[in-house]
Amino acid sequence: MEILKIENLSKVYGKGDTAVTALDQVSFTVKKGEFVAIIGPSGSGKSTLLHMLGGVDRPTSGKVLVDNTDIYKLNETQLAIFRRRQIGLIYQFYNLIPVLTVEENITLPLLLDQHKVDQNQFENIVKILNLQNRLHHLPNQLSGGQQQRVSIGRALSVILLLCWQMNQQGI
Ligand SMILES: Nc1ncnc2c1ncn2[C@@H]1O[C@H](COP(=O)(O)OP(=O)(O)OP(=O)(O)O)[C@@H](O)[C@H]1O
Ligand SMILES: [Mg+2]
Repeated sequence: MEILKIENLSKVYGKGDTAVTALDQVSFTVKKGEFVAIIGPSGSGKSTLLHMLGGVDRPTSGKVLVDNTDIYKLNETQLAIFRRRQIGLIYQFYNLIPVLTVEENITLPLLLDQHKVDQNQFENIVKILNLQNRLHHLPNQLSGGQQQRVSIGRALSVILLLCWQMNQQGI
């Protein structure tokens, strides 16, 4: 089963003399469970492609279907909800919220949806990421590697939601 389908995806940044074609008619599919790496030289469009797949920026043309949802047919609000609930994205420069603590940054996608956090699972993830002594610090009080791990924690926070839902259903 295809979890991801990319059709003729193009992205042009800017206009006129400074226009840059970052993606030019990219098409591929990813099956459920497949592990895919996108490799290429600096400036070749890897981050741009991931931004398009994650719904954080709109392509100039082409389609992205995630689990059969044509994500760029969604309006901004629907796309924001889709992104928060279905996509785990670790940014090249982390994109942590500077005024939120480590704990708040990790659980942010859940808090925005007013979901409760499974405390055991949260503690497990925090321990694996070795952030248990930094939960109440702000991003600018962390090392680069620690900030990267907070970003990974935020991408994993969907797992916290799934665990909470499974607990509720007694699974
Ligand atoms: N916001 C932007 N405005 C204009 N041009 C951009 C913008 N973002 C990226 N580009 C250009 O698009 C091209 C692809 O950039 P992208 O960031 O996707 O590359 P990358 O493969 O992730 O590179 P790196 O390995 O250096 O992170 C580059 O030529 C870059 O200069
Ligand atoms: Mg990049």
